[in-house]
Amino acid sequence: MKRKMILPAFAAALVLFSAAAAVAGARVGKEAPPHDSPMGPHFSFTRAQWESTLTELPPEIRNAIYADEALFLKEAAALIDAGRAFYAHIDTVVPVDPIDLRPADLVDLNDYPVRTSKPMQVRRPAAEAFAALSQAAAADGIRIVGISGYRTYAYQQRLYENLKNAVGKAGKAVSAAPGHSQHQTGLAMDFNSLEQDFDETPEGLWLKAHAADFGWSLSYPEEYEELTGYDYEPWHFRYITPAGCRLQRLFFNNIQFYLTDYFHRYDSFYREYRTHE
Ligand code: DAL
Ligand code: ZN
Repeated sequence: MKRKMILPAFAAALVLFSAAAAVAGARVGKEAPPHDSPMGPHFSFTRAQWESTLTELPPEIRNAIYADEALFLKEAAALIDAGRAFYAHIDTVVPVDPIDLRPADLVDLNDYPVRTSKPMQVRRPAAEAFAALSQAAAADGIRIVGISGYRTYAYQQRLYENLKNAVGKAGKAVSAAPGHSQHQTGLAMDFNSLEQDFDETPEGLWLKAHAADFGWSLSYPEEYEELTGYDYEPWHFRYITPAGCRLQRLFFNNIQFYLTDYFHRYDSFYREYRTHE
């Protein structure tokens, strides 16, 4: 009889011990890791250093990052490795860098299995990503047509002046000033139609649902006109890589402006501490 008790007593002790360990574990889990510990494996900065880059972000973005730090840092490493051109911030105030940028790897879209309304060029990674997007769209019965790609500073200047003359000051919200267009980077494209109700067409809806899978991000979304400085453009996409699109959707409120603003600001910080495991 006595011997029989040993097992239940042992089991009870084990349960008590595990419960205590779980409480201790929970307590450890709740405490923030030491602020001087490296964030690894992708970056060697400490938690304190990294957290100081997050303080100015809108709270919902900061909270989303804290909710899955490991994924954020993994995708950030992929974006940083792709190159700064893919997240350089460009807006009505911040110009393309350098302002007379002419990308080196422009290719002719005629040489790719894509449709365009006229001859045009984009950078090679954008051409490849446009071809992949076109192929997936075609498989769904959707025809995506490139209607604008790379633009030189001088071409953007002509566009901007023509528009300003035609519609006056309001032209600013429609066309970027020379040196301020994403098109000058060779990584932005306009697709199919320059009508705002393009977002109700099968092509516009398809792009909205699938462009990010191929690394293309909508640059000028509806309801963010004040932030971006431009009217809603459901046709204008920028190639920011698939990792960039995942970061945008999961952590930056799905707004490209917030993503590029953050990574542009902290570009040298992320590069300095990137580990190459
Ligand atoms: N339409 C966009 C803002 C551009 O001109 O680049
Ligand atoms: Zn455009």
